[in-house]
Amino acid sequence: MKNDIESILISEEDIQKKVVELAKVLDEEYEGKNPLLVGVLKGGLPFMADLIKKMEIYLEIDFMDVSSYGNDTVSSGEVKILKDLDTNVEGRHVLFVEDIIDTGGTLAYLKDLFKYRKAASVKIVTILDKPSGRKIDISADWVGFTVPHKFVVGYGLDYAENYRNLPFIGVLKPEVYQ
Ligand code: PRP
Ligand code: MN
Ligand code: MG
Repeated sequence: MKNDIESILISEEDIQKKVVELAKVLDEEYEGKNPLLVGVLKGGLPFMADLIKKMEIYLEIDFMDVSSYGNDTVSSGEVKILKDLDTNVEGRHVLFVEDIIDTGGTLAYLKDLFKYRKAASVKIVTILDKPSGRKIDISADWVGFTVPHKFVVGYGLDYAENYRNLPFIGVLKPEVYQ
């Protein structure tokens, strides 16, 4: 599997250092607020798992699984919920945990939905941000790394459902998706 990788963009060591930094900042932000961290499946899973282990405050976790409507090339910003939360979010401080923000469609939808559900606050932490992909004006509250306009895999990000288990962020060899 590792043979399919052309180059490593962000190393495992750099990711883990960043996770510790973000955990510290989030501990300060959410101390005494018992936040609900919501992992967005499937890509958000590795970051979620690493992040919560480095946080030291009281917190709760839950997960949502969502997919975009329509075809891949046109993002409607409309999202279908495949798995909803098991937790009532009214009055809760919600923090979405994502692997990447690309068009912004997924998180714009989720943010609106959770405001409608009367969460006390709705914020976003993402390990990767790809601002060049943006179609909806939304930004994360905390970003690990900004990535260029390249197709990246690993640390939750897939190509045809593979490569999520790589501990680093890498670029695939072109022949893999030709
Ligand atoms: C990917 C990624 C983000 C979303 C970002 O998920 O994990 O959740 O797309 O794209 P956007 O900003 O354009 O909405 P995907 O829908 O591929 O599902 P997955 O996490 O199960 O791979
Ligand atoms: Mn995802
Ligand atoms: Mg995907």
